[in-house]
Amino acid sequence: MSEKTFVSDIKAIRERARKHIEQGAVTEGYKANRETVINLLNDALATEIVCVLRYKRHYFMATGINAQGVAAEFLEHANEEQGHADQIAQRIVQLDGKPDFSPQDLLSRSHAEYVEGDTLAEMLKEDLIAERIAIESYRDMITYFGNDDPTTRRVMEEILAVEEKHADDLSTLLEDMDIVH
Ligand SMILES: [Fe+2]
Ligand SMILES: [Fe+2]
Repeated sequence: MSEKTFVSDIKAIRERARKHIEQGAVTEGYKANRETVINLLNDALATEIVCVLRYKRHYFMATGINAQGVAAEFLEHANEEQGHADQIAQRIVQLDGKPDFSPQDLLSRSHAEYVEGDTLAEMLKEDLIAERIAIESYRDMITYFGNDDPTTRRVMEEILAVEEKHADDLSTLLEDMDIVH
């Protein structure tokens, strides 16, 4: 069996790197369709912003005997979703794109929905559903990025892992409240 060798034409890479320096981190070897990646990331950005808003609403509206621990969890998730939004916006800029923070069509671009819910149980269920939507759509995005844009893939993989933790936190809280059947 022949050993795998690493071949990279450093001279050619050096020459290419000198061209189009206005494109910053985007080099000629970038294999993905940049426009598609930026569009996908902007939809993920909308998803994260909608999740921040929903978790904030739930945090301020959480009342009742079980509310304290749950409210703390809502706030923690809201802050982490904000962190994801920032990571995604940062990556869009690195790709020479523009992060879309316009409230105009935020909800239609977001994968996850904004459901207020009247009770603590409804809030938890809606948040769990939203997390499950994000998990599925981010996983699809990661598969699409593959090896064409490993950095964007890694950013989304990190975020996906946190969404899976969020979903697990929520389902544990629902189980503790004995409202999952
Ligand atoms: Fe998130
Ligand atoms: Fe989440």
